[in-house]
Amino acid sequence: MIVTIDGPAGSGKSTAARGLAARLQFEFLDTGAMYRAVAWRCLRESIDLHDVNAVATCAAAMTLRLELHHVFVDGHDVTSEIRTPKAAQGSSIVASNPGVRRELAARQREFAEGRNIVTEGRDQGTAVFPHAECKFYVTAAPEERAFRRQRELREKHEHDVPLDEILQQIRERDDRDKTRVIDPLRAAEDAIRIDTSGLTPEAVLDQLEHIVRERMQ
Ligand code: DC
Repeated sequence: MIVTIDGPAGSGKSTAARGLAARLQFEFLDTGAMYRAVAWRCLRESIDLHDVNAVATCAAAMTLRLELHHVFVDGHDVTSEIRTPKAAQGSSIVASNPGVRRELAARQREFAEGRNIVTEGRDQGTAVFPHAECKFYVTAAPEERAFRRQRELREKHEHDVPLDEILQQIRERDDRDKTRVIDPLRAAEDAIRIDTSGLTPEAVLDQLEHIVRERMQ
């Protein structure tokens, strides 16, 4: 069975997807980490992220291993390095590269082959797994997502970023993801929409688990 969870950054979908996979004992696939890995490899090889052919070639040549809590590129553990703001910014650029999307979509389908998985991203229910048995589109109000992001940064002891600055970044990223020509962020027609505003992570997880278990029967 394939469960897809798409939605914008900060919607709570990553926590929900990970938690759901654990509860169901399904494999978990973080597709955002794959785009971040491509950006990491390009930056390491000093490839211009806007050079469409060079970036696509770099993605195709990458050895990528995804474990539950670790990501390896060509044998290097890049788990922390792909979470830097530079890698995040880079991933958003390489994500609009059609060659990269084709390559990663093929690897995502290969990963899912013959397995039960919960896969999380922007295009999982629309472009990569249009026939998935259960699709979710997880959102939250931009203000709430900005607030969560601010709290996360505080917990990581990073500098205190003003809420309006975070909100502005979130709006810009949403806009880029939704207006991208290839596989933009959108809900699949048959996706179940979950608005996590005001809900605890546990409440979100309970809802998702309940729906998937019903579908499994
Ligand atoms: O979810 P994330 O922040 O780790 O995603 C990193 C970038 O990759 C983000 O700019 C959106 C993009 N992405 C995508 O285009 N398609 C996916 N399936 C997953 C992520």
